[in-house]
This record gives sequence, structure tokens and C-alpha cells, in this order.
Amino acid sequence: MNMRITKHPILGDIEYDRKVKIYVDGQELEAIEGEMIASALLAAGIKTFRYTKKHHAPRGIFCGIGRCTDCVMTVNGMPNVRTCVTPVEEGMRVETQHGCGKWKEGAGDE
Ligand code: FES
Repeated sequence: MNMRITKHPILGDIEYDRKVKIYVDGQELEAIEGEMIASALLAAGIKTFRYTKKHHAPRGIFCGIGRCTDCVMTVNGMPNVRTCVTPVEEGMRVETQHGCGKWKEGAGDE
């Protein structure tokens, strides 16, 4: 399922030629270079990004501007990354976050 806009009434045909591969919960996913992680996930039909700590309720995009934390996920081993304002990078590993998440060893050492 591809939910991207490919024909626009003003911009015309839109081609996405610069692609990167990311891994979401271990599954390979094609994303567009420069787009936010949340955009890539929504385009692939993924709407649940995390589960709350107390009630394990699913959360996804809410504000879309980096203010609410509903979209946080574990990215390259770092928990609580706001995916609506974080661009994709080649080989990025994105994981659904449960509760507060956990740091993976070596994450952020670069
Ligand atoms: S959707 Fe609110 S911070 Fe990302």
C-alpha cells in the first residue's frame, strides 16, 4: 500500500526518486530521502508508533510538529525520539516503543 501523493493539481506528477532503506521493527521499509520517519511509516500504513507505560494504549501522530511526544519511538537504540520531526537516514533502525523505552548499549556513541 502506497499512500503518497503522486499526482497534484498544481504541482503535477510527483516523482520520488531519492530513496533510502530503513528498518522498522526489523522489517525493511523504503523511505524518501529527507522525509520524516513518521511520514515514511504513515505512507506504509503504520499508525501505531508506541504504547503508553500505564495502560499500554497505542499512540501515533497527534500534533505532527514535535510538541506532544505521542510519536516517540526508539531510533538507532535511543528511546523517545520524536519521529514527526526526525528525518530518515539510510539504514536507520526504528522500533515501536513500549512505555518509557530503554537505551540500547552503544546508542548515541557516534
Ligand atoms: S506527533 Fe506530537 S511530537 Fe510528534
